[in-house]
Amino acid sequence: MPFVDLREWLGRLDKEGELRRITAEVDWDREIGAIARRVLEKKGPALLFEKIKGYQTGRCTKLVTGVLGDRRRLALALGFPKDVPNRELVQYVMQKNREKIAAVVVRTGPVKENIERGDRIDQAEFPVPKWHFKEGGRYIHTFSAIVTRDPDTRVMNAGIYRGMIGKKNTTPMLLMKGGQHWGHHFVKYSERGQPMPVACVIGWDPIMPFLAGSPIPAGVCEWDVMGAYRGEPAELVRCETVDLDVPATAEIVIEGLIHDDPSTWEMEGPFGEFTGYVSDVPTPRPTMQITCITHRNDPVFQGCLEGTLPGSYSENSVMSSTQRAAIAWNILNGAGIPGIRDVWVPPITNGVNIHVQITKHYQGQPKQIAAALWGASAAQYRYKHVVVVEEDIDASSYEQVDWAFAHRVNAGEGGIVVFPGGFGSPIDPSTPLEDRDVAQLGTGLWNRVLIDATRSWKMPKRPEWDNERFPPTVRPAPEDEARVRARWQEYGLGDL
Ligand SMILES: Cc1cc2nc3c(=O)[nH]c(=O)nc-3n(C[C@H](O)[C@H](O)[C@H](O)COP(=O)(O)O)c2cc1C
Repeated sequence: MPFVDLREWLGRLDKEGELRRITAEVDWDREIGAIARRVLEKKGPALLFEKIKGYQTGRCTKLVTGVLGDRRRLALALGFPKDVPNRELVQYVMQKNREKIAAVVVRTGPVKENIERGDRIDQAEFPVPKWHFKEGGRYIHTFSAIVTRDPDTRVMNAGIYRGMIGKKNTTPMLLMKGGQHWGHHFVKYSERGQPMPVACVIGWDPIMPFLAGSPIPAGVCEWDVMGAYRGEPAELVRCETVDLDVPATAEIVIEGLIHDDPSTWEMEGPFGEFTGYVSDVPTPRPTMQITCITHRNDPVFQGCLEGTLPGSYSENSVMSSTQRAAIAWNILNGAGIPGIRDVWVPPITNGVNIHVQITKHYQGQPKQIAAALWGASAAQYRYKHVVVVEEDIDASSYEQVDWAFAHRVNAGEGGIVVFPGGFGSPIDPSTPLEDRDVAQLGTGLWNRVLIDATRSWKMPKRPEWDNERFPPTVRPAPEDEARVRARWQEYGLGDL
């Protein structure tokens, strides 16, 4: 069953004990961010703040965050029980990402209950947090679907891209020409000498950030893929001032134009990024000039606290763990690589690291896997480190993967491969700033690594090793294990 809108989803979370209402007064300035961080660290519920300092009356009084901050809630959002196994969820997402149900445009909807233009536009009327004390400003777009349209094909795209309040009606954003899909659109508008129309959708079905935050192939409209997940068409309404369509039951929509004219750009950043580091330095960025804001009565503002820390992760990590694994697996299938058994993205890495479990068919297979992933545009911010293991290693177990790393990798024999200077993330703190100069390089440069933790086929099979390439492990013989299992109680070890 689809969630019609954010309100229905919050109702479901409430019923499942996955939502906490905070009625104590809290400050949008750093306090909400610090609370959200502590709750993420405790792998706690989503948070609905109902009494925000300075916002107890007015246009918008509530803020929700953390709706997908744990795998339990992602499973619910996708229609599964909270404890669904990873592989099942990943395979469902692989399938759904390739389906479409075309969106329909309806005449109007609740998002049109309030329409503000001109001087009445003021982003500060929404309780936008300053999430982290080192950030350059108040980040209004952390979980919004940013909608643009390809001017050639007229296909819309929805992506999550960060945006900070500039003036009351301007939003500098991390927009890289040619980088993400809206960057492709921006280049096309720029070549026509036109500004790019943009609509930022805040708060709808949780499937919206799940898909907007993921690299669905260029040219595929995310609203149609969301239809496939929902099992019915997304109902959209036309924007007021730009040629774009947005969900009729969204909470808030901000419309505007971005000009490829540096004289209109404003300073943006730094931002507490998904890497867990406060990114880059303040930089002039393409800036949205807001033309209109529409919203429901009593709208709920939605945002996400970005960033992982050692031992705790964010909503993006939870989504990435499933989506980036599904996308990688589809890439590997598309490349015709045999023997893929499982793909695991450790949530703490957001997909910067990925583990692929295979049945090995030939010696060069792990390198083929890495090459296929690194050649895909989905690797822009992801798949920096690829680890390949065999079927006897659970790709989701650090202890098992680390064992294979320790005892199956021969770095001097191709077990570790560095692929230098390819396209990659401009916000990786381990990359020198000159290799992250988007203005000069277009995007970041990455040195990627393959760790081939499979048993090398260059080792000959030996008769004294049961005709295997590696010696037997220390696991007892099956008949010895069976005998011991049968007498376990007798040994007085039944409690173990
Ligand atoms: C919470 C969150 C924040 C994100 N912030 C940004 C961002 O600021 N800039 C960016 O390029 N990608 C960002 N991403 C990743 C993109 O949303 C993702 O790569 C997506 O595929 C972009 O859409 P597109 O493939 O249609 O271009 C973010 C993702 C999430 C989930």
